[in-house]
Amino acid sequence: MMLTVSEACERNKEPILAVLRTELAACTRVLEVGSGTGQHAVHFTAAMPQLLWQPSELPENLPSLAERIRVEGGANLLPAVALDVRTGPWPAAPVHAVFSANTLHIMGWDAVCEFFRGAAAVLAPPGVLCVYGPFRFDGRHTSDSNAAFDHYLRQRDPQSGVRDFEALDRLAQERGLRFTATHTMPVNNRTLVWRLA
Ligand SMILES: C[S@@+](CC[C@H](N)C(=O)[O-])C[C@H]1O[C@@H](n2cnc3c(N)ncnc32)[C@H](O)[C@@H]1O
Repeated sequence: MMLTVSEACERNKEPILAVLRTELAACTRVLEVGSGTGQHAVHFTAAMPQLLWQPSELPENLPSLAERIRVEGGANLLPAVALDVRTGPWPAAPVHAVFSANTLHIMGWDAVCEFFRGAAAVLAPPGVLCVYGPFRFDGRHTSDSNAAFDHYLRQRDPQSGVRDFEALDRLAQERGLRFTATHTMPVNNRTLVWRLA
C-alpha cells in the first residue's frame, strides 16, 4: 500500500512538536484523535520517546493510517485503533493527554460536542487536551485565508466549518476542563490547551 503524504503535516509537524514538548512534559500516555496519515504520530513519538502514543481514526480511514504506523512507527507508537468520537466508550483510557489536529472544523457540531465529552472521560491527571487548527476568536477569523477556507468548508459540508473558540471553551468547561493556553502557530493556526480542572 502506498503511504499517503500530507504536505500540511510536513510543514506543521515541527511547530506543533515544539508546543507539545512543553504541554505534554508531565505526560506519558497520549491518545490522538483523527490521526490522518499518521505523519504527526510518527514524528512526535520519534522526538519524544518518553511518550506512549495511541493513534486513531474513523474505521473507514484506518487502513492507510495503520500501514504508516506499521512501517514507520517506533516502539512507543501503538498500532492504530478505530475511533469515531461519536461512539463510546473511547479506546485507550485512561490517558494523560488527548491530542487532535485539524479535526474540529471537519466533523459536524454534534461530533465536536462528543469530542469534548469523550476527551474529558478518558483523561486522567495531569489531564491535558491539545487541539491544533484554525479557530475564530470574538467572532472573527484570524485571517482572510481562514475566512475563505471556512466558506469553502461550509459549502462542501454545511455541518463543518471553522469553530469559535468561545463555543469550544463552553463545551470544555461543561466537561470539567479549564482553558490554560493558546499558542500562535504558523499560517494563522492555533494550538489550544485545556487541562482537567
Ligand atoms: C483534515 S483531517 C486531519 C488529519 C490529521 N490529524 C492531520 O492533521 O493531517 C481530519 C480528520 O478528522 C477525522 N474525523 C472526522 N470526523 C471524525 C469523527 N467523528 N471521529 C474521529 N475522527 C474524525 C477524519 O477521518 C480525518 O482524518
